[in-house]
Amino acid sequence: MTPRSTVILGTGSYTPERVVTNEEISRTVDTSDEWIHSRSGIRERRIAAPDEHTSDMAAAAGRRALDAAGVAPAEIDLLVVATITPDMPMPAASCLIQHKLGIPTNAACFDLNAACTGFVYALDTACAMLASGRYRKALVIGAEKLSSVIDWQDRTTCVLFGDGAGAVVIGLSDEPDKGLLATKLGSMGENADLLYIPNGSSPSTYAASARGHFLKMKGKEIFKLAVRVMDEAARDILEQHHLRADQISLVIPHQANLRIIEAISEYLELPMERFFVNVERYGNTSAASIPLALDEARRSGRIKSDDVTLLVAFGAGLTYGSALIRW
Ligand code: ACO
Repeated sequence: MTPRSTVILGTGSYTPERVVTNEEISRTVDTSDEWIHSRSGIRERRIAAPDEHTSDMAAAAGRRALDAAGVAPAEIDLLVVATITPDMPMPAASCLIQHKLGIPTNAACFDLNAACTGFVYALDTACAMLASGRYRKALVIGAEKLSSVIDWQDRTTCVLFGDGAGAVVIGLSDEPDKGLLATKLGSMGENADLLYIPNGSSPSTYAASARGHFLKMKGKEIFKLAVRVMDEAARDILEQHHLRADQISLVIPHQANLRIIEAISEYLELPMERFFVNVERYGNTSAASIPLALDEARRSGRIKSDDVTLLVAFGAGLTYGSALIRW
């Protein structure tokens, strides 16, 4: 029996209403639109309302993906949510989202933390579980309320991040060589100190410190590693699947910094027109970044039948991952 393909049946996304511009941030910390835009490509980001949680944004994106796929919540038997900002440490955001969407009680629901690589990890996990034959239809969501873990007094980080959610519905197909063709996941735990939130749900790990529940980042070091690791993750997966870079119709990279994306475009010798970029409008939304971009790319007609799309990401851990999808 030939193994069945795991294919994306529909995509959806959601971003909060409130737009926060660089100019608005520069009224509270010592920065400027010129500094932020020239270093990162970001002009503005979306920030969730105080009573709008990760599970609310995720459910909205999930609903849109289900509508686009023409799949009812009752058909979903697997829900995987990539996030570093669940509504609370316990229960998992996925259980709250399951209830909000009316996904049946016999569905497996869990969260996954691979930071900004979270969606690629979640996609690979869900596809493998479907390919096992034990699940039939999955909803995979990347969602973040990063504004809740950002130190709004720290200009080196607060200008870079935003909130949002993206989702895909996955099913099985008998069409060969479609859907998820290959993935490459990895992690370099020795670099954990470059990007972390010290005080979380296990207070015994680190002594509670002032402002310890906010994200800490060594931006310059991350920048250099991100370029190298994303370039390698892209090259490895192309080689593994015997494809040249110019056979990729569209690259959807993690949207952390326009300069990182431009460097990868240069290294892969693939023009920027082949890269989907929306970082200027949303900043870095971590696990939501790739599915949000994927949904915008699909809805704006940037992805056509038979196209091959490359997803490539890096994040805290440091984790990295890439995926090839044929539509
Ligand atoms: N406004 C004005 N000045 C600032 C700001 C700001 N918002 N932030 C920092 N500065 C200052 C610093 O204090 C420093 O000043 P100093 O030289 O006097 O000490 C100077 O600007 C640093 O400037 P550059 O060296 O030009 O900064 P750089 O080119 O490294 O850009 C940036 C900084 C944008 C943070 C970059 O390093 C970066 O994008 N790194 C990657 C970050 C990233 O991708 N993180 C996400 C990881 S994914 C995840 O899992 C969440």
